[in-house]
Amino acid sequence: MPATSMQDLVALCKRRGFIFQGSEIYGGLQGIYDYGPMGVELKNNLKAAWWRAMVYERDDVEGLDASILTNRLVLRHSGHEATFVDPMVDCRKCKSRWRADQLKDGKCDKCGATDLTEPRPFNLMFKTTVGPVADDESFAYLRPETAQGIFTNFKNVLDATSRKLPFGIAQIGKAFRNEITPRNFIFRVREFEQMELEYFVMPGVDEQAHKDWVARRLAWWQEQGLTSNHLQLFHQPAEDLSHYSKATTDILYHFPHGVEELEGIANRTDFDLGSHSKKPEELGLSAHVLPNADSVTKLTYRDLDSNKDIVPFVIEPSAGVDRGVLAVLCEAYTEEAVGDSTRIVLKLKPHLAPIKAAVIPLARNKPELVDVAQQIKNSLQKLGLGRVLLENTGNIGKAYRRHDEIGTPLCITIDFETVEQSPASASVTVRNRDTMAQERVLVSELASYFQEFYSQT
Ligand code: GLY
Repeated sequence: MPATSMQDLVALCKRRGFIFQGSEIYGGLQGIYDYGPMGVELKNNLKAAWWRAMVYERDDVEGLDASILTNRLVLRHSGHEATFVDPMVDCRKCKSRWRADQLKDGKCDKCGATDLTEPRPFNLMFKTTVGPVADDESFAYLRPETAQGIFTNFKNVLDATSRKLPFGIAQIGKAFRNEITPRNFIFRVREFEQMELEYFVMPGVDEQAHKDWVARRLAWWQEQGLTSNHLQLFHQPAEDLSHYSKATTDILYHFPHGVEELEGIANRTDFDLGSHSKKPEELGLSAHVLPNADSVTKLTYRDLDSNKDIVPFVIEPSAGVDRGVLAVLCEAYTEEAVGDSTRIVLKLKPHLAPIKAAVIPLARNKPELVDVAQQIKNSLQKLGLGRVLLENTGNIGKAYRRHDEIGTPLCITIDFETVEQSPASASVTVRNRDTMAQERVLVSELASYFQEFYSQT
């Protein structure tokens, strides 16, 4: 059973060090979260799985890490300055503010009043000043999507790599949106991470490429442990499409708070590369106030067949890292009856588990056990499969409970038999998280046991 209550999950995340409220000691900051020792490992593992699938296992994708601070003209040309807005209403009774399209029956979510202002557009981008002079024109934006850094670097990457269409540029990074009402834990937040691919194709083959990417991305989420009955596709109706999109298919997940978007796969056509290659007047914008501010680079591709410069079309699979973390946590969260008690266990896919193995000396104050445990920990750590933890608490029952709750697939216990046997026959107990089965494994075979376990999962 996946988590059905967000409360249980939030409690587990705090208790076990996955996710904390940002700036918590000062009362927090709404819509901002910090990832703790377990959370950072899980998040890094999810990002690494995405990078492997989207960059390393393909032969047509390059990586990029563009900056967060963005010249305002990028977001002006991209259309975000004019259209990246949500409809905001005020409650006249209790003075709270809401996103109009998220209210039920037109009632204030706090006091239930129906006396609300007319919706007005609220731009979601965060502004900041760059440099010592702050005036109306010197501000920059924190990027609202990583995608624009890919579009503005299109020519740089193309020139540096001599790629031919179709090819993609992948990026993982932070993005910022000043959500009117952040909600549902790490689902809707103001600072978040995206995993985005911009896949450039010849115009005309875009619709097939879009379909292919939807199928690939759905399969990828299943490989991260999300079951097909908790996933569904949603083809956005024309009136809901973003300003740049010709067609968008969302991958939805059955979160405890509702069925909501995990990833959007958009056909962005030639909108963005085209917009960054045009003058403001051609986009219906007023001329830039700053002199010489027009983009000087045509973001085009030389098609050798026709001998013409063309603007490629773009398919964009855009996934939320934090939403992905939330989905895999929800899916993995399990409460199981064991005898008379209930155990909470995170049945994460092993490649996502924060700790790959816990090495546990049976007793804490026995240096001979701790020394062997330390050696085993060091040798498994060197295999490079992820974090291996020496768990030196001396209470094996508590250690198993903790490692069930953080999803550690293997617990390796060092007992007196381990140290009393000759080196050739020394063995340890390996406990499997999901089955709770325990088996003796020779210390000399532990590294290959560990590698074999992770190669199969
Ligand atoms: N790049 C698409 C999005 O941020 O929604």
